[in-house]
Amino acid sequence: MPQSSALIYLDNAATSFPKPPEVAEAMHRLIREISLSPGRSAHRFSLAASRVIFEARELVADFFGCPDSSRVVFTSNVTEALNVGIFGLLAPGDQVITTGMEHNSVMRPLRHLEKTRGIHLEILPTSPSGAIDPDDIPKRLNKKTRLIIINHVSNVTGSVADLGAIGKRKGGALLMVDAAQSAGVFPLDMEGMAIDFLAFTGHKGLFGPTGTGGFLLREGIMAPPLKMGGTGSNSEQEAQPQLMPDCYESGTPNTLGIGGLAAGLEFIRATGRETIRRHEEHLTCMLLDGLSRIEGITVYGPPAGAERGSAVSLTMAGRSVDDLAHLLDRRYGIMARAGLHCAPAAHRSIATFPHGTLRLSPGFFNSEAEIQDVLAALEQIRCES
Ligand code: ALA
Repeated sequence: MPQSSALIYLDNAATSFPKPPEVAEAMHRLIREISLSPGRSAHRFSLAASRVIFEARELVADFFGCPDSSRVVFTSNVTEALNVGIFGLLAPGDQVITTGMEHNSVMRPLRHLEKTRGIHLEILPTSPSGAIDPDDIPKRLNKKTRLIIINHVSNVTGSVADLGAIGKRKGGALLMVDAAQSAGVFPLDMEGMAIDFLAFTGHKGLFGPTGTGGFLLREGIMAPPLKMGGTGSNSEQEAQPQLMPDCYESGTPNTLGIGGLAAGLEFIRATGRETIRRHEEHLTCMLLDGLSRIEGITVYGPPAGAERGSAVSLTMAGRSVDDLAHLLDRRYGIMARAGLHCAPAAHRSIATFPHGTLRLSPGFFNSEAEIQDVLAALEQIRCES
């Protein structure tokens, strides 16, 4: 039986919780002290808001190894960031190489462009645990290959794509990385990994609030923006400015959220990304080890000890995944996500479509005791099945 009556949050792959106290403090201070509308006026509040955004941009550029912070664009989440790249960079007849582990934030725009622009998709095969082989890329490259889109760490299985090896095999194509699950935990280096378009979200491993995210675009690459409007720059022109990053950031930005995201990045810097990763790895290994001892549980994804993210997918014989998630929440106060995780392609690849899996995703603020409680709860549910 779980020892503690406290709630246990194991849905960090959806959004990290709790956030470091510094994030809430920074946001509380900002909303109390300034008006948060940057780049529109010359008064002190507007200048202070511009500084918040500028400093966050510098932090993001530095964090992802991008030499020029004007190449960092803020969006409302990773889905918007990926949509800018996919809609902006693909022309009729282009080929895209992608994987069987992608989220709907990639698959839905791609399937739409298959119909409306006649793009061609090459989907890389995956191993039963969700891994792709970078050597499968060169044989699919041709002169029409415009983009290679790779999910860095799967939100379903935690499998990790070897970006270094993929970057070396991209030929003349652009490499777009969906770093939704990896940013803040795994190393990401635009220059070192030859990444051309890196899309991230703020509310998972970067510890920012929901409503934050963005992309980094290598110099020399331009994609038409998805939205146009006021940027506070070149206001005498009715044409959208070409200037980076303004061309993509029309409308008053989420200064409050971006200030919170900056506090999340500062927290990672102070704590150490490797420290965060080691803790998550340790809890994930503990979880996988314990699950392997519970009869009737099948775990999907890389085994304990292999390089993997913290998303652990499982099914239990005799119980639907929805039933499991419901019981964990109602009876034990354990929060997890069941179903397809907005990634039906990934579930097809690991043969868990259409019912999906129960996903447990530990984060930096989980403890060993919480993992033991979850294992005990699953063991008890199993005994009743
Ligand atoms: N894509 C997020 C998840 O996996 C929301 O839960």
